[in-house]
Amino acid sequence: MAQIDILQIAKEAEQKKMQNPQVINATIGMFYDENRSVGGMPIVVNRIHETPPDDMLPYPTVDGGKPFKNNLISWVLGEYEQSLRERLYVDVCATPGGSGAIATTFSVYSNPGDFVLVSDVRWQYDRFADRAKLNIFEHRMFIDGHFDIPSFRSRLTELCQRQQRVIVVVNDPCHNPTGYTLSNQEWDEIIASLNVFTNNDIVFLYDLAYLEFSDEKNSRLKLSKLSKIAPHVFVVIAFSGSKTFGVYGLRMGAAIGLSKIKSAVDDFHDKFVLEARGSWSATPTLAISLFNFFAQKEERINFIKALNDAKTVVSKRSAIFRKEASDIGLETYPFSSGFYTIVKTPHPLDSFHRLADHDIYAIPMAGGIRIALCSITVSEVTGLAAKIKQIIT
Ligand SMILES: Cc1ncc(COP(=O)(O)O)c(C=O)c1O
Repeated sequence: MAQIDILQIAKEAEQKKMQNPQVINATIGMFYDENRSVGGMPIVVNRIHETPPDDMLPYPTVDGGKPFKNNLISWVLGEYEQSLRERLYVDVCATPGGSGAIATTFSVYSNPGDFVLVSDVRWQYDRFADRAKLNIFEHRMFIDGHFDIPSFRSRLTELCQRQQRVIVVVNDPCHNPTGYTLSNQEWDEIIASLNVFTNNDIVFLYDLAYLEFSDEKNSRLKLSKLSKIAPHVFVVIAFSGSKTFGVYGLRMGAAIGLSKIKSAVDDFHDKFVLEARGSWSATPTLAISLFNFFAQKEERINFIKALNDAKTVVSKRSAIFRKEASDIGLETYPFSSGFYTIVKTPHPLDSFHRLADHDIYAIPMAGGIRIALCSITVSEVTGLAAKIKQIIT
């Protein structure tokens, strides 16, 4: 399918909604609360208003500075920070959103013409690949309602025979666009597969943009298993502050590099800082200071409360959609939690146009139509599955 511009479709849908409030705009990966406030967390907005100029206006340190780096590692690795630090070297570079971490990984760890391993159902990694002049190498994402480990392994094997260095992208939990979350066993098998290719350099790009929206009992357990990576595997975690804090336009993000080899982590830091200086220069100071503010113990507790409220709202919407879809036999990809679900359809572009003709805006993707449950209210979700089924079948 031709590349589509999600932000452009979302803008058009927003304009339609301004003219007609009945329009359903399920296009964009931003959380809107039930009052249609973007981000849905007043505690974050209040802090932005209260931020002193000195925490907003000066140039920041390119990598975010020591407090940011330490805070970020503690935030993402959680209770496993110490044990991971004992087994792996780790460093951080601030980036403009998770996108900055992904784009930089693609550009600094590849040569033009290389292939990058991604799932067949995916977010727009193609855009980052295009810019770095990389080709897409797909594995199948699902088999019988689960992650297709055999396809992942065999495609990785093929690619490792072609290329010395291989970038492997995994987006988890709450995979965009399906909402799938890998089981711990699937995760173990992914790590074990990466560890096999000792004659290759594997760059494992772990995009956990939706980490905080996972419904897993322990959303950090998979991170703890990174301690098992072999020396030839370099991990880059792409962190998105946009999704975590609902500050999409602020461009808060970071890359965390982890490896058993110290020089590989030092090299990661140098490469990211050089890339930053030669492109976006530095991540916004406000993004860095906002993160540092909420990383403080008391502030973090208050933030997590607000985040849990947002999560509850998204879960409610997805539960309604899932139940209604299953009741009427509207087929979706396997789904656990998060911002999106995909309604399967053989002709996504055609379905997109038909839905838009009925004032329902969603995103056409290979294999289906992505519904952003994060951005529509409970009352808009209610009955939506039946409307979609009627329109596209
Ligand atoms: C899977 C995934 N990764 C990363 C991002 C990057 O988000 P941002 O650059 O706004 O942090 C997004 C945004 O939609 C996403 O869906």
